[in-house]
Parts: sequence; C-alpha cells; structure tokens
Amino acid sequence: MTRTSTIYICQICGAETKQFFGRCTSCGTWNSIVEEVVEPSSYRSKQVKSNHSNRLEGKRSAPISSLESDAIKRIDSGYKELDRVLGGGLVPGSLVLIGGDPGIGKSTLLLQCATEMALYKSVLYITAEESSSQVQLRWKRLGKNESNLHLLAETNIELILNELEEFHPDVAIIDSVQALHDGALGGTPGSVTQVRECSAALQRLAKSKNIALLIVGHVTKEGMLAGPKVLEHLVDAVLTFEGDRFASHRILRTVKNRFGATNELGVFEMQGTGLIEVPNPSELFLSADNAPGIATIVACEGTRPLAIDLQALINKTSYSSPRRTATGIEGNRLHQILAVIEKHMNVGLSHFDCYLAVAGGLEVEEPAADLGIAAAVMSSYKKVELPQRTVLIGEIGLGGQLRSVGQMQLRLREAERLGFETAIIPKISNQDTQKEKDRKINIKAVSTISEALDIALNINS
Ligand code: TYD
Ligand code: MG
Repeated sequence: MTRTSTIYICQICGAETKQFFGRCTSCGTWNSIVEEVVEPSSYRSKQVKSNHSNRLEGKRSAPISSLESDAIKRIDSGYKELDRVLGGGLVPGSLVLIGGDPGIGKSTLLLQCATEMALYKSVLYITAEESSSQVQLRWKRLGKNESNLHLLAETNIELILNELEEFHPDVAIIDSVQALHDGALGGTPGSVTQVRECSAALQRLAKSKNIALLIVGHVTKEGMLAGPKVLEHLVDAVLTFEGDRFASHRILRTVKNRFGATNELGVFEMQGTGLIEVPNPSELFLSADNAPGIATIVACEGTRPLAIDLQALINKTSYSSPRRTATGIEGNRLHQILAVIEKHMNVGLSHFDCYLAVAGGLEVEEPAADLGIAAAVMSSYKKVELPQRTVLIGEIGLGGQLRSVGQMQLRLREAERLGFETAIIPKISNQDTQKEKDRKINIKAVSTISEALDIALNINS
C-alpha cells in the first residue's frame, strides 16, 4: 500500500508547504492555500521520468537567425469573431484556454467551431463533463447532421493522451481541464496538482505533435480562472467568454495572447440554434431614442472601435450622503469626473444621487469615455437632451482640460460609418484628424470640459 501524505498548495503561485498558512509565504496571497493528498512515490517517479525524457531529447542551442522557420499557417476557426480574438486564426501546436461562467456557452462555442473546422481539418472533441449522447444531442440542436468530427467522452488523462497520439488530430478540444483526472496523482479532479499536471502533460503532447488545443477552464465565483496561476502561464492564449446570462449577447475577449494583440473582442449572440456572430456590434449597444442623460461614446477594444451609449440619472437625494452607482464603469472614475464637474462647471452635486450605466451590460475601462460620462451627467442634471447623431470622445484631466486619446482616426471612422454627424473631441487630437480630407463627420475640437459641454448642451456652467 502506498503511503499518502498531505501537502498544502497555493492556488495562485503553486508553492507547496508541509504546513497550513492563512497567507502564502511565497506570493503573499491570503486564503489561497488548499490541502491536497499526494502519493509520494508515484508523484516523484513521474517527475523524475519527465525530467529524464527531456534530457534524452538532447536538443542544442543554435543562433536565432539560422533556425529554419516554417511560415505559420493559421487554422481558420470558421468564425471570424473567434479568429479576430485569436489574432487571425488558431496557431498549430498552440494551447488556448477559454474561461467563463457556467452556462455562458463555452461548450456550445467550441462544439460549433469544432464542427466548422472538421470540414477541412481532422478535429477531436474530448468531453470530460458530458456524455457522448449529451454532446450529440446538443450538436443536433445546432442543426448539424453530417460531419467528420470525432468525439470522445473520457476523463482519464492517460487515455486522452493515448487517443491524441493515435488519432493525431490537427485540432483537439478539451472540455474541461478541471474534469480531467490522473490516476497516478492524489486529489480530486480540479485540484491544484491535478490541473497542473494534466495541463502540463497536454502541453507537452500538443507541442511535440503540433496539435492545436482548445481547453475549457472554469472560473471561480470571483471571476478568476479556477486552478493554479501556472495554468495561465503555461498556455499560449487565454480567452474569456462573458456576458449577462439574461441578455443574449456574449463577448469573447483576449486576456493573454502570444500570437496576437490582447484586448481584442468578438461578439456573439446566443439563439435557439446556437451562437451566431455579430459583425456590427455597435448597433447592439446604441439605443434608438434620445433622452436627457444619454451620451454616445466610441470606445476602442483592442483594434475594434465600438460606439456605445452611456446613461446617467441625476436625482435629488433623500439620503444623508448621496448614492453613486456605476455599472460597467469603474466607480472611482465616476467620482473623479463628478469632482471635476463640481469644481470646473460650478455645479453642486453633493445633494444629488448619481447612477451611471453602460448600455448592453458592456464594461468600459477606457479614459476616452470620460467626456461622454460628464456629458451624460450634465445632460441629466440640466434635463437637456444632447444633440442627436453626436459622439463625445476624450479623457478629462483633473484640471478640467481635455486630453487626447489613442486611435482617434479609428474611432472617428466608426462614428462616420454609423452615420454620426458631429464628434466633440480634444483639440490636441485635431492636428492629425485634419489630415484626412474626405471626412464627412463634423469635428468640434475643444480644449476644456466646459467648452465641450457648452457646445453639447448649450449651457454656460
Ligand atoms: P453551455 O454551452 O453548456 O455553457 P458552458 O459550457 O459555458 O457551461 O450552455 C449554454 C447555455 O446556452 C445553456 O444554458 C443553454 C443555452 N443554449 C441556447 O440558448 N441555445 C443553444 O442552441 C444551445 C446549444 C444552448
Ligand atoms: Mg460546458
């Protein structure tokens, strides 16, 4: 009988200790230590074996310029929105981790693109969470009935590695890494050791056999990817699939990408027959009607400009200290803008509640939204509508001045494409915006917040 022992592992940095600590002694994170039972002999022999096999490969270094590089031919995932987020398609031999809340549609997305890719590549879908018949049922629901897609329902990592080696697909999907189990290690599926070892084994195989792996990862209730941080370091790209479960659109974002830009964004809509792409998401985030408190901004997510409506509601407060609530915008940002308005527009907002929301449940982190936020707040406060077909773009400095923001050309082109007629932007950005001759949109370049709001709302403080 093998003797088991208990170790304590930090879920964030993967450090191991013999004793429980409330705070990791290695990375300093609180409450990140979990207890795990390991079987020392098999665990050690496994590690020694893998170290040894690495040494046997006997690879030597070489000058970087002398290396033969095969031009990487990316695999088209069948969905332009997914390709964009991946930086132009799936790279052979790469590991992509897709995280997201339960029920958001990760399995659906991967089953759909697996079916598309199976039209011209060999694809293996490994489900560790559902049975084959459940996956087949979903596949039929998606309206598919003929495909070369191979399916395997298995949780044992050894058997999965075997099948990957035997079948040798171009692309494999693993749903999910938290459900995999290595019999040689202790602990339940999803524990730190299991996730770390199973994903490391998959990575070794993917790199050596040049198989592109798409792996589903669960997220914790704080929205972090479950399991050790090493998982995120190990993979080539981390994507998150988000969205309001009550709204139908879903947003795919890049958190990390070794083969493309981060902050890219893809938009899908969940329908009765699966996910469909939304190539023009701006239309999703714009409301048709105009009312006091609504302002339109153009935010940039990676290389993608998005026109978005912001809504503000300013109401006399009935509390001792006024309420400030922001949905989709950082609370501190709102406080800062309110302070600038109070100081530089001479408006007392201390007796008013302020609610701010981004339409469509989107999150906007960019400072370029500042001017739009200020305009929405003042529009609601003054009960005056902002002019129609107008976008506001700009960062607000603490001194009330407007700062320029990046990718102004891209934003203006998107506004133009959507039929906006006027753009209120910082003066500094104006120099290069003048250069574009055939611009149809009317540009109003201003240098301070009061100038901007004067034009937008026709108010002098
Ligand atoms: P699923 O893809 O299993 O999510 P995850 O793998 O991220 O946990 O589930 C997606 C949800 O979407 C599920 O609650 C049912 C719903 N759904 C649709 O609305 N339309 C569809 O065509 C499918 C397949 C699922
Ligand atoms: Mg699933």
